[in-house]
Amino acid sequence: MQIDILTLFPQMFPSLLSAGIFKRAIDRKLVGINISNIRDYTHNKHHTVDDYPYGGGAGMVLKPEPIFEAVEAIKSDISRKQGLDEMPIILLTPQGRLFCQQIALELSKYSHLILICGHYEGVDERVRQHLVTNEISIGDYVLSGGELAAMVVADAVVRLVPGVLGSEASPIDDSHATGLLEYPHYTRPQVYRGWAVPEVLLSGNHAQVTKWRREQSIMRTLERRPELLNKANLSLEERQSLDETKPSPEGR
Ligand code: 6GU
Repeated sequence: MQIDILTLFPQMFPSLLSAGIFKRAIDRKLVGINISNIRDYTHNKHHTVDDYPYGGGAGMVLKPEPIFEAVEAIKSDISRKQGLDEMPIILLTPQGRLFCQQIALELSKYSHLILICGHYEGVDERVRQHLVTNEISIGDYVLSGGELAAMVVADAVVRLVPGVLGSEASPIDDSHATGLLEYPHYTRPQVYRGWAVPEVLLSGNHAQVTKWRREQSIMRTLERRPELLNKANLSLEERQSLDETKPSPEGR
């Protein structure tokens, strides 16, 4: 998979790419990440990327030309190397669709992604209307730019690319992958400061361990994120025992 990130602050990315999951994926040639500076696609002497808003008001607006030209340069480079390809062109903006594991999974199936880091004051609307295919937000709070959001999206997507994680099974158990939060994890020592690891995990009984973990996942989700249970993949028995645990809101 290739991810192209268009930004006004390319210097924010190298440390992210030089450690952990990104380094691993890049070293193994499973993922390529290109950072492009939107400013490199300006033609005027001062390399202007923003301008005053028509109609007045506070803040500057990112001009359309450098963004269109950067995306077009990347797309023609890709189609020259590997033929024409449908690829999402994603604008990171607080006005976008709320990012979640399901979107990460959908994006992980493409061979190319283009991420455009917007800025809070705004991007010329013609970029949204005529260039971008998806708009994504990472949460209901305001960041000063789309860079951190692009890193969040890229991280969540890259770890789903086959071969990137050590064991192929691990993304399946992730919190949110099943619609449930993950069960608690323990490692050695067996007793730390008097706090013991739950007995069942030491039993060697795999069926019991699996059952305990499943119950813990469901209970943890009920306590912390009950709204997730509506969409979670639960068996009929699990739904029934949950209904017995949960007092019904109507007091029935
Ligand atoms: Cl994608 N961009 C900005 N600037 N702020 C955000 C965001 C994105 N997602 C949440 N807040």
